[in-house]
Amino acid sequence: MKGIVFTEFLEMVEEGFGYEMVDKILLESDLPSKGIYSAVGTYSHHEMVTLVVSLHKNTEVPISELLEAFGEYLFNSLIKAYGHIFHDVNDAFGMLSTIESYIHVQVRKLYPDAELPTFSIEKPNDKQLIMYYTSERSMGDLAVGLINGCLKHFNEEADLIKENLNESGSEVKFVITKK
Ligand code: HEM
Repeated sequence: MKGIVFTEFLEMVEEGFGYEMVDKILLESDLPSKGIYSAVGTYSHHEMVTLVVSLHKNTEVPISELLEAFGEYLFNSLIKAYGHIFHDVNDAFGMLSTIESYIHVQVRKLYPDAELPTFSIEKPNDKQLIMYYTSERSMGDLAVGLINGCLKHFNEEADLIKENLNESGSEVKFVITKK
């Protein structure tokens, strides 16, 4: 997992819970990286799981809620960092439809070692988008936050239903219906 994901996570924790909490979760988690992340480095995604579990234990906020909130935060950070690669997308469905065919393809060009999920997309009608997520990292809750971040970015309101298609959460279906 790329360092930018970790640096943004720690920044969100600092903004939401203060620097002491960042210090606490880093000290409590026995991390191979020792909590020193460079934006372009690559680290095990298990470190992210460890940090989120530690934050959950210290704040009593459910893990799914923490990951969703982080997804929204991360979406804005990614747009700031990589906004220049987007062109011709004017709405949320436009952007969500191109994650697999364009956005993550560009990410892969920048970072050949990026660990990215796979999405397949169906668009039954103008109001609805169905996304099938596959990733051995099982980060469907993070995807919920990223999708919500995308909807907010375009000032759009939609209902988002998440359905795990297997026990491990490596396959997830999202149904997004515009209001
Ligand atoms: C629009 C909604 C988006 C969704 C739903 C989405 C989904 C995801 C998810 C769930 C992950 C975590 C890895 C996994 O589950 O296997 C991920 C990783 C990532 N995505 Fe996306 N993404 C979105 C937009 C973007 C955008 C706009 C960018 C910026 C160009 C981006 C760049 C990345 C990067 C850099 C990673 C980390 C790769 C790594 O750690 O190795 N994504 N994405």
